[in-house]
Amino acid sequence: MSETTLKATAAASGASATERFLTDKTGTGTPAGGVDAERVNTLATEVITAVHDVIRRHQVTYEEYNVLKSWLISVGQDGEWPLFLDVWVEHAVEEVATAVRKGSKGTIEGPYYVPGAPTLPSVCTLPMRDGESGTPLLFRGQVTGVTGEPLAGALLEMWQADDEGLYAQFAPGIPEWNLRGSVATDDEGRFAVTTIQPAPYQIPTDGSCGRLIAAAGWHAWRPAHLHLKVSAPGHEPLTTQLYFTGDTHIADDVASAVKPELVLDPRPNGRGANEATYDFVLDPTA
Ligand code: DHB
Ligand code: FE
Repeated sequence: MSETTLKATAAASGASATERFLTDKTGTGTPAGGVDAERVNTLATEVITAVHDVIRRHQVTYEEYNVLKSWLISVGQDGEWPLFLDVWVEHAVEEVATAVRKGSKGTIEGPYYVPGAPTLPSVCTLPMRDGESGTPLLFRGQVTGVTGEPLAGALLEMWQADDEGLYAQFAPGIPEWNLRGSVATDDEGRFAVTTIQPAPYQIPTDGSCGRLIAAAGWHAWRPAHLHLKVSAPGHEPLTTQLYFTGDTHIADDVASAVKPELVLDPRPNGRGANEATYDFVLDPTA
C-alpha cells in the first residue's frame, strides 16, 4: 500500500469514528444526560485527584505539562478521542459492565461498529469484493441461552478489517458494507458464515495516538480479530471479538481486549478455506 493511502486512512478513520460516535451513541452530540450530579462529582473529583497524585509523585515539570496540554488539544483536532478511549480505557468499562454474566465473554466494541449492516440468512457469505484477498474462513456455531436452549432468529452482527487491516466506512475506497453483515440464526440457533481471515490491525500511527505510542516506545498492534454483536429478544446483547490462535499480538494487544476464551483455532478444511467454530451463550435480560 502506498504511503499516501495510509495517510488518508489514518485521518479519515479518526474523523469518521468521531462522527459515527456522535451520530449513533449520543444523538445530539452531547452525552451525559442522566448521570446525576453526585456521581459526576465523585468520579470527576477522583480522576482529577489521581492526576494530581501522578504530578506530585513524578515531579512533573511545566515543560511536561505543556507537552501534555498540546497533545490533548491535538487528539481532539485529529478526531482521535474515540480511538484513544477505545484502546486505553474501554476494556476496564467492559470488565465492570459484564462482571456478573454467566454466558459468553464479551470484550470492547472499538470505534468501527456501524449499525444497520445488510441482513443475511444463517448460511451466508459476508459482502466482499471480487477476489477479496485473505484466507477464506468458514465461521460456524450456535447461539443458545445459559440453559442451553437454542436461540432461533438471534442476530449476529459481524464487522471486521480486510486483509490489509482496514475497515469499510473508515478507510477510503472500500465498498460501504464490505465485510459487514447482520446474520440471522436458523431454527436451531445455528449460523455458518463465509468470510476471510482479517489481518492484524495497527491503530493509526500518524495521528496523536500514534505520536503517544512512538514517544512512549510502545507498539500500535492489535491481533487480527472478528467483531461481533450477538442479540436475541429477552437476552442481554453480547459485544465481543474473536482472535486467532498463534497470532503474535495475542499476548500484547495495544487495546488490552484479548481474553483466553475468545481465541479461535481455525483448521484447514481441505477445500482451500480455514474453518472455525464458536458457540455463543447469551445471559437472560437482567
Ligand atoms: C481500535 C480499532 C479496532 O479495530 C478495535 O477493535 C479497537 C480499537 C482503534 O483504532 O482504536
Ligand atoms: Fe477492530
